[in-house]
Amino acid sequence: MMNAGFVTAAYIVAAILFILSLSGLSQQETARRGNYYGIAGMAIAVIATIGSGAVDSYVLLILMVLIGGSIGAVLASRVEMTQMPELVAILHSFVGLAAVLVGFSSYFDPNAHLVGAAHTIHNIEVYLGILIGALTFTGSVVAFGKLNGKIGSKPLMLPHRHLLNAGIGVLCFVLLLVFLNVGTGTGTFVLVLMTLLAFAFGIHMVMAIGGADMPVVISMLNSYSGWAAAATGFMLSNDLLIIVGALVGSSGAILSYIMCRAMNRKFLSVIMGGFGTGSTGAAGAADGEEQGEAVAIQAAEVAAMLSDANEVVIVPGYGMAVAHAQHPVSELTQKLKAAGVNVRFAIHPVAGRMPGHMNVLLAEANVPYDLVLEMDEINDELSDVDVVIVIGANDIVNPSAMDNPDSPIAGMPVLEVWNARQVIVSKRGMATGYAGVENPLFFKDNTRMLFGDAKDSVSAILSEL
Ligand code: TAP
Repeated sequence: MMNAGFVTAAYIVAAILFILSLSGLSQQETARRGNYYGIAGMAIAVIATIGSGAVDSYVLLILMVLIGGSIGAVLASRVEMTQMPELVAILHSFVGLAAVLVGFSSYFDPNAHLVGAAHTIHNIEVYLGILIGALTFTGSVVAFGKLNGKIGSKPLMLPHRHLLNAGIGVLCFVLLLVFLNVGTGTGTFVLVLMTLLAFAFGIHMVMAIGGADMPVVISMLNSYSGWAAAATGFMLSNDLLIIVGALVGSSGAILSYIMCRAMNRKFLSVIMGGFGTGSTGAAGAADGEEQGEAVAIQAAEVAAMLSDANEVVIVPGYGMAVAHAQHPVSELTQKLKAAGVNVRFAIHPVAGRMPGHMNVLLAEANVPYDLVLEMDEINDELSDVDVVIVIGANDIVNPSAMDNPDSPIAGMPVLEVWNARQVIVSKRGMATGYAGVENPLFFKDNTRMLFGDAKDSVSAILSEL
């Protein structure tokens, strides 16, 4: 068994590694290194915790690590890149569930002999830990369902839902006061009641949020899972868990803020839910009728167009991930570059299904970082571009976000690709994107539709070049 000083030292090293990891992950060039720091920090943390003497049964521990570890390894090795957001959502739910379980076990701990203020503080920790954990758990399960399509992306609008939420909040606070003033018997009943309320709240909170707001919800649940972990750290008096929880909680909160900015939404109105209802169906259909027909194009014509171009911008979206088209896209970039064409990528902050989704795919396909620009860096320059190729993107290039105030995505900044001379859209058909909104871009005079799977389409352009 390690002595306490050694464990503390190990925890400090791990905490520093986690901070280095986060700062590494903030830039693509250093992201890989950031991951290694994180892995090293976690390995040190696990070893130090196991050796700290807090473990009663090593047999049980090893058995559980083996079972949990193998389930995790199998799931993670099987998961497709496109299912990554779902995996992250379900992993957040585990953090929440763990906080609930730790909360109950620490409430029933027969070895706890706290009295007076220490007892009250511990009970508050237990209560808050279970509360945050429970709503993170059910909220993340619903987010998982919405991301993989098992639950529709339409927001659920219960009557008086704000009143309902406020009611649950007030009730939870009253129950806390009761909880602090009763014995274990009634206390258990109050805890269970609050847990059920928090479960319901988590479900209701995420069910009420529409498809277009999902990016914010994901980062918000990320943040909650951090606070749940920090609460667990308080209950277990584990400093490292408190630090890690706070790191995840606050970085998730910052990410939520960035996502809100990217979608031009106020955090509170996201939490209040309901975005993405709008008059989609009706307005969308009416627009569709006026818009006329989309014009298709063949790969050979696209190849000719690209050969004549000086400036080309590629806009990747979720469909590129589905089609695994990043490798042919990277090849296309090299080929055009070699022919003297200036090729750049325009990345929308919520392209794909998770923050940084497109950057990860392009990095995997070895697209040089300096070609990859953020929406704000390139939007104003799109009018000087000869050809924009939209690959499996939809909502992020939808002009109705700017010119149709009734659109469910009204106000969301988008890539203004229609300002370019020619727009090529590669997708399989006329289906809508995640937000379920019709896209007038497809019917513009300078837009041509390259129908088919994105990987096949890009490969076809490549062979024609
Ligand atoms: P989407 O708007 O979802 O559009 C993707 C398009 O790709 C679809 O319209 C689909 O059309 C096409 N597609 C699918 N499979 C394809 C394939 N194999 N080959 C070619 N095309 C294919 O994607 P986006 O433009 O990237 O926008 C992201 C959306 O997801 C936003 O609404 C955003 O709010 C939401 N969202 C984002 C996140 C984060 S954090 N990034 C998280 C949750 C939700 P066809 O079926 O016609 O091919």
